[in-house]
Amino acid sequence: MKLAISGKGGVGKTTIAAALAKICTQNGGTVYAIDADPDACLATNIGIP
Ligand SMILES: Nc1ncnc2c1ncn2[C@@H]1O[C@H](COP(=O)(O)OP(=O)(O)OP(=O)(O)O)[C@@H](O)[C@H]1O
Ligand SMILES: [Mg+2]
Repeated sequence: MKLAISGKGGVGKTTIAAALAKICTQNGGTVYAIDADPDACLATNIGIP
């Protein structure tokens, strides 16, 4: 596993995390996506209201 970290600033971290979570669900398993950002928007990116 490779982990890349960058600071706040809209470079696409949440977008990539949401895309990876979506892709991981395609195998039929359970995927936990945890958003630790106080200004959370991962759920929105995944499509959860
Ligand atoms: N590859 C891309 N091309 C164009 N727009 C993109 C791309 N990736 C992300 N965006 C857009 O850039 C904006 C910021 O993306 P995102 O929220 O994923 O960034 P972030 O790194 O999580 O930001 P923050 O540090 O504020 O949490 C969003 O409007 C998203 O749709
Ligand atoms: Mg983000």
